[in-house]
Amino acid sequence: MKKLNKSMIIVALLFSMGANATPLYTKCAACHGEKGEKVSLGKSLIIKDMDKDAFIAALKGYKEGTYGREMKAMMKAQVMMFSDEQMKEIANYIVKK
Ligand code: HEC
Repeated sequence: MKKLNKSMIIVALLFSMGANATPLYTKCAACHGEKGEKVSLGKSLIIKDMDKDAFIAALKGYKEGTYGREMKAMMKAQVMMFSDEQMKEIANYIVKK
C-alpha cells in the first residue's frame, strides 16, 4: 500500500511538470539565467538571443552528439531525457523571436 501511494505521487509530479514550460527550464536557469540571458560558465551563447530553429537544433545536436564545443558532454547530460516536443516547449519559453 505504501509503495502504491509513493508511485501515485510521482505520477502526479510528472504530470504537473509537463503542464507548463517553466519546470522544464528550472534546471537550466542556474547556468543560463532565469530568462536565458547569461553566458553560461563563460562559454555558451546567450540562448535567449538564438533563433528558435537554432536553439532546437543545438539541443537535438547535444542529445545526438552532433553539436557542441569543449563543454558539450555537460549539455548532453542536460538534454538526453528530452523529447522533441519538450525541446520545442523550452524554445517557446526562452526564445522570443
Ligand atoms: C551546468 C551548467 C549548464 C546547465 C545546467 C545547462 N547548460 Fe546549456 N550550456 C552550458 C554550456 C557551458 C554551454 C556551451 C557548451 C559547449 O561547449 O558546446 C551550453 C550550451 C547550450 C546551448 C547552445 C548554445 C551554444 O553556446 O552553442 C543551448 C541551446 C543550451 N545550452 C540550452 C540549455 C538548456 C535548455 C538547459 C536545461 C535543460 C541547459 N542548457 C542547461 C551550460 C549549462
